Amino acid sequence: MAKKLYIKTYGCQMNAYDSERMADVLAPLGYVSVEEPDGADLVILNTCHIREKAAEKVFSELGRLKRLKAGGRSMILAVGGCVAQAEGEDILKRAPQVDLVFGPQTYHRLPELVARAERERGIGVLDIDIAPEPKFDHLPETGVRGPAAFIAVQEGCDRFCTYCVVPYTRGGEYCRPPDEVLKETRHLAETGTCEITLLGQNVNAWKSGDWGLGRLIRAVAATPGVRRVRYTTSHPAHVDEELIRAHAEEEKLMPYLHLPVQSGSDRILKAMNRGHDADDYRLLAHRLKQARPDLALSSDFIVGFPGETEADFQATLDLIDEAGFVLAYSFKFSPRPGTGAALLSGQVPEEVKSERLARLQAKLISIQHRWYEEMVGQSMDVLFDRPGRHAGQLLGRSPFMQPVHVKAPAELMGSIASVRITKGHANSLAGILAAA
Ligand code: SAH
Ligand code: SF4
Ligand code: F3S
Repeated sequence: MAKKLYIKTYGCQMNAYDSERMADVLAPLGYVSVEEPDGADLVILNTCHIREKAAEKVFSELGRLKRLKAGGRSMILAVGGCVAQAEGEDILKRAPQVDLVFGPQTYHRLPELVARAERERGIGVLDIDIAPEPKFDHLPETGVRGPAAFIAVQEGCDRFCTYCVVPYTRGGEYCRPPDEVLKETRHLAETGTCEITLLGQNVNAWKSGDWGLGRLIRAVAATPGVRRVRYTTSHPAHVDEELIRAHAEEEKLMPYLHLPVQSGSDRILKAMNRGHDADDYRLLAHRLKQARPDLALSSDFIVGFPGETEADFQATLDLIDEAGFVLAYSFKFSPRPGTGAALLSGQVPEEVKSERLARLQAKLISIQHRWYEEMVGQSMDVLFDRPGRHAGQLLGRSPFMQPVHVKAPAELMGSIASVRITKGHANSLAGILAAA
C-alpha cells in the first residue's frame, strides 16, 4: 500500500533540491508525496539555519505537528536539513515528538533511518555525519522533473564568511565529477526537462581536474534536449575568465546572474571575510556586462553587520546604483551560534538594523519595479513550466527568471514561446503570445 510522504522545505534552492532527492530515495519504499501533513505516514521538515528567524520557524511548526500527531495516526516525524545538522540532539530534547533527526549529508540513508525510527518509537534516531561524498554515490537516479530542474554540482563551502553557518551545516566543498553531472543532465533532458540550473553553495568554485564551471556549463548546454542553463549561487572571488567567456559565447547560458556582494563598504566586506572589495565587484560587474550586454545582475545584502556605520550603509546604497542590480534580497544581520561575527563588538541595535533595512528595501523595490516596467512592450522567450492561476493560463519564466503569466493552450506546457510583455506587476509580468 502506498505510504504518504509530506516534506516541508525551508531555506535555499539546495534544500529544495534535497527535498526532491529525499522523495526519490523514499519512492522505492512506496512513499508518495502529498500536499498536507494531515494523514501523512512520514513528515519531514527540511530546515534552514541561516538566520535565527528561519531556525525558529521549525519549532513553531513542530508544535503544530505535535498536536496532529497526538490526534491520531502513527506518523513518523523527522527533522532534516541545516537546523538538524546544527542542533542535532538538542532537537530531540526540545521536541520529544520528533522521531528522527538527520543532516543534509545523510538523507541517502533515509530508508534505514525511517525503519529504525519505526522500530524505536519514542527514542529518537540521530544521524548527522557530514562527509558529502558517500551521499552522491548512493542516491538513486533522479525522478522525473518538470521543464526546469536543478542539478547539484557542488556542495558545502570553504569560504567561511564570518556571518555564515553554511560551512558548518553543509561541511567542506565537494564537487561532483563531470561525468556524473552529465549523466544526470542526459537523464533529465530525456524525461522532458529543458532548463537546467546547476546548484552549489559556492557553485563557481566547482572544479574537476582541468575543468572549471565555464566548461561544465558548455558541456551541459551541448546535451541534446537542453535549451537553457543557469547556475547559482556564485561568489565574486571565483568568477574566472572561462566563466565570463561562457557568458559571452554560450547562448544557452541565460542572461541572469545572482552574484551576491553583501555590502558596498570595504571595511565591512573585510570584516565579513568576503575576499574582495567593492571596486573588485564593480569591475567584475562591468566585465560580465561587456561579455553579455543584456545580463541582469542580482545580489544579496546584509544590513547591520557588526560595526556598520551610516557611512558604510551609504556605500552599500551607492554600490547598488553603480553595479546596476535589477533586484536584490536583503536581510538584517542575524548573529549565528559558532560564527565569528556573532562574537564581534559593535553589534548594531535592532532599531538601526530595521531602519536601514527599510531604506534599502524601499530603494530595491523601486529598482525592481522600474526594471519590470521596462519590460513592457518587449518580446522575449518564455519557458512554460507551470499551470497559471486562472483557467486557460500558463505560467512561465523569462530569460531573466521573471515569472510571466500568459493566456496559452495547455499543449505549450514545457515549451518555449515568444511572448510580448503587456504589463509589469510587483513580482511578475503579464504577456501575450507573440504571433508565430
Ligand atoms: N552560498 C550563498 C548563499 C548563502 S545564504 C552565497 O555565498 O552567496 C544566502 C544569503 O543569506 C547570503 O547571501 C546572505 O546575504 C544571507 N545571510 C547569510 N548569513 C546571514 C546572517 N547571519 N544574517 C543575515 N543574513 C545572512
Ligand atoms: Fe556562506 Fe560565504 Fe560560503 Fe556563501 S560563500 S555559503 S555566504 S560562507
Ligand atoms: Fe539555509 Fe542550509 Fe540553505 S542554512 S540557506 S538551507 S544551505
